[in-house]
Amino acid sequence: MSAVVRLREWIFRRVNGAEGIPVPGPLIGAEHFERVYSDPAADGRSRGAGLSDLFWYWLAPGPQMHQEHLEPGDRYQTVARVTRRVLAVPHARSDALATAATRRALAGVSGFVRLRDLMMPVWAEVFHELVFAESCPPAARDMIVANADDVVNALKGLGLRHMSRRDRLTRYLLSRIEAGTCPVVLPPPFTAQETAWYLQGAFFNTAVVQMSEAMAHILLLAGDISDVSDQSLDDLIDETLRVHPLFGIAHRITSAPITVDGETTIPAGSVLLFNYLAYQRTGPAADDTFDPSRWRRLKRREAHFIPYGMTANRACPARGAAPVMLRAATREVLRRFAVAAPAAHTRSLPNRGPAFLTPIGHRGPGPARLAALRRTDRIADAGRSMKQLVLGTWMVLDARRQKLCTTHFSSLEAQP
Ligand code: HEM
Repeated sequence: MSAVVRLREWIFRRVNGAEGIPVPGPLIGAEHFERVYSDPAADGRSRGAGLSDLFWYWLAPGPQMHQEHLEPGDRYQTVARVTRRVLAVPHARSDALATAATRRALAGVSGFVRLRDLMMPVWAEVFHELVFAESCPPAARDMIVANADDVVNALKGLGLRHMSRRDRLTRYLLSRIEAGTCPVVLPPPFTAQETAWYLQGAFFNTAVVQMSEAMAHILLLAGDISDVSDQSLDDLIDETLRVHPLFGIAHRITSAPITVDGETTIPAGSVLLFNYLAYQRTGPAADDTFDPSRWRRLKRREAHFIPYGMTANRACPARGAAPVMLRAATREVLRRFAVAAPAAHTRSLPNRGPAFLTPIGHRGPGPARLAALRRTDRIADAGRSMKQLVLGTWMVLDARRQKLCTTHFSSLEAQP
């Protein structure tokens, strides 16, 4: 299968060009990673990078209103402030929301599950409740899940985009904003349509996708954990995010030259590719061994461990609430079930985390069943790789054709 992966990477490079400076990389080592990432000139988000057309294509509709892709400036500041306000939740409430939603999702569940699918409705409900200050109707939950699932499958090359599924959610959000029943709105001059795209991007796409992916990784690795104390769960979660950081690469476009170590100068207009996995594999916790107990000995801030990004440069606004919610949901699952996950576990998680959940005190699947799952998953993986090659290539070409980001910025420049 590695031949298929290499072929896919080769096609992506042919179409997109080998754009960008990898950090850490030959030009800028790991020792300068945090300093360069934190540099005020590493602040451009989308404009001027060819690969932004691909990200915008995946995040549509309304990628120009996705917080992650807004350029620095007043509009970005306003949007970021609104997000911070929504996420400024006391820990006890974050815990209670995630616990209750997980409990609902687990009702009647037992046996074989795909962990990512199991968890998506949980986060759809939690973020709906945070945004609308009311519990999530099942129809809205299903729309949110359909939207988030569509985005993450397209991002992984496992499905094409289905814009009708995504547009249905935009219409729901827009109707709530126009009816005055959405307490979170962007102030003028932002329009209702822009607010709908913003909410969809931050809360019903990024939040739901990231939290579901994180939970799938955590539970796949939770097999041997019986202690559900806060500290043990926090160690499990951090170790999971160290071994499988959710972000692959975060890119920035430099708005001014950056000088590193008094000699190397990165010119303005460069695309910096901050590689989370590569950085986390340097420093005092550089190995691949899964060992939650390391966090009893190691200080997180000294470990080249940046699961939620760099505080100085647009770090994740959920870095306070997300760990508490993940802990609550993990606790709720592990209190009720033993998790057996025999299939391959990779960072990109194309199999959506197949696992057996066995109620505590009951007998789980025997070795033959576990081996059968491992075998079927290996066979399915070959099919998934081919699918990713074909669909991924098609989407890269389609994104190049649509040029959503390039067109957006050239139309702004054309305005008087
Ligand atoms: C385990 C869960 C999560 C992880 C590991 C995670 C990780 C990250 C990272 C590493 C970044 C910075 C990327 C960069 O520097 O470009 C980021 C940005 C962001 N995250 Fe998260 N995230 C998670 C959950 C969430 C949730 C629940 C939300 C809810 C709204 C969220 C919203 C955002 C937004 C809006 C940004 C862009 C920030 C900006 O550019 O101002 N994330 N996240």
